[in-house]
Amino acid sequence: MTLIVDIHTHVYPQSYMDMLRARKTVPYVHDPQSNDPPRLIILSSDDDSSIPLDKRGRPVDASYWDIDVKLAFMRRHGINSSVISLANPWLDFLTPAEAQIWAERINDDLEATCARVNRATDPDGTRALHEKETLFAFGTLPLSAPSPSIVVNEIKRLKSLPHLRGVIMGTSGLGKGLDDERLDPVWEALQETQSLLFLHPHYGLPDEAFGGAEATSRYGHVLPLALGFPLETTIAVTRMLLAGVFDRFPRLMILLAHSGGTLPFLAGRIESCILHERNFIANGGDVQGPKRSVWEVLQTNIYLDAVVYGTAGLKAAVAAAGSTDRLLFGTDHPFFPPLDGKEDEDWPSVTTNYKAINASFGDDAESVAAVLGGNAARILDLK
Ligand code: URA
Ligand code: ZN
Repeated sequence: MTLIVDIHTHVYPQSYMDMLRARKTVPYVHDPQSNDPPRLIILSSDDDSSIPLDKRGRPVDASYWDIDVKLAFMRRHGINSSVISLANPWLDFLTPAEAQIWAERINDDLEATCARVNRATDPDGTRALHEKETLFAFGTLPLSAPSPSIVVNEIKRLKSLPHLRGVIMGTSGLGKGLDDERLDPVWEALQETQSLLFLHPHYGLPDEAFGGAEATSRYGHVLPLALGFPLETTIAVTRMLLAGVFDRFPRLMILLAHSGGTLPFLAGRIESCILHERNFIANGGDVQGPKRSVWEVLQTNIYLDAVVYGTAGLKAAVAAAGSTDRLLFGTDHPFFPPLDGKEDEDWPSVTTNYKAINASFGDDAESVAAVLGGNAARILDLK
């Protein structure tokens, strides 16, 4: 039987939802007066004052916070194991004084959830991974804490939690992006502990990139999610590359959401532009260019999820990564539910990814098995 592992699947724990309920600015949760479901207002384009509060953002249901709903979703789609992560915007918006306590609370909560579920599905710990349902988790970091040492301490503490397998992070870093030298102790700690960093977008692109706020919201979330998210990831990781992060931390392990945004497709162009700018000095800059090539980084530091919904994206990902060994199945649950309200049936957002994986590598059973679960089990040491 093929092992299936979902490495891209989110939760908003109840405590986090309650914290958002107490807020009135993005990100926040609004409960309509009627019995309608709560609204999650997390993207800046969601908070459009011309739209009534009860209609802003997106409706959310128990699939966002109830782990039993996720387990039912896993069963429905044949998923054995999920590596759950807090969804965007994580803890990015907290004041410095709040960050550490919330990171510890969320991470302890994730650990307790995984331990409880795994005890229930395999009380003696004797069943193989493909014979049971299990949960693991990526932790969240207190990035707005007063000092990077607090972030480093949390990375080290996560190593002592048995079900934690790395961290999820957005692209803002300590507030100035991921090419910020103040992040070096964080990269160092991730490298030293060999913790996988799951890099995930949230902020997208400014509304101006899509023709202004009105034009952006005219099409719902299509422009921010389909284009803003992947470009944000691509820009963030390219800035890391240009700043020499992968030269200084050659053993850093990064999993890029949505098959790397557009990085696999643009890698050649990025590499060519770097070569033509050489050491960035001739052009009036004063920054030394990266020593390691984009291709080398893609094939040694970067892993890509398979959440790209088509064969063209998957084939670009594998061409850039050098093999199918660096590509990992994911669903992005609970986002992108079926539109017809049939949430207990197959989700087209998931079946599209299964079909794309089979269509891309279907004549090579080993590659399909690796992408669906073997790679995740190996890279994240899942047992
Ligand atoms: N929308 C989000 O806000 N986050 C995701 O991860 C997917 C869709
Ligand atoms: Zn996601």
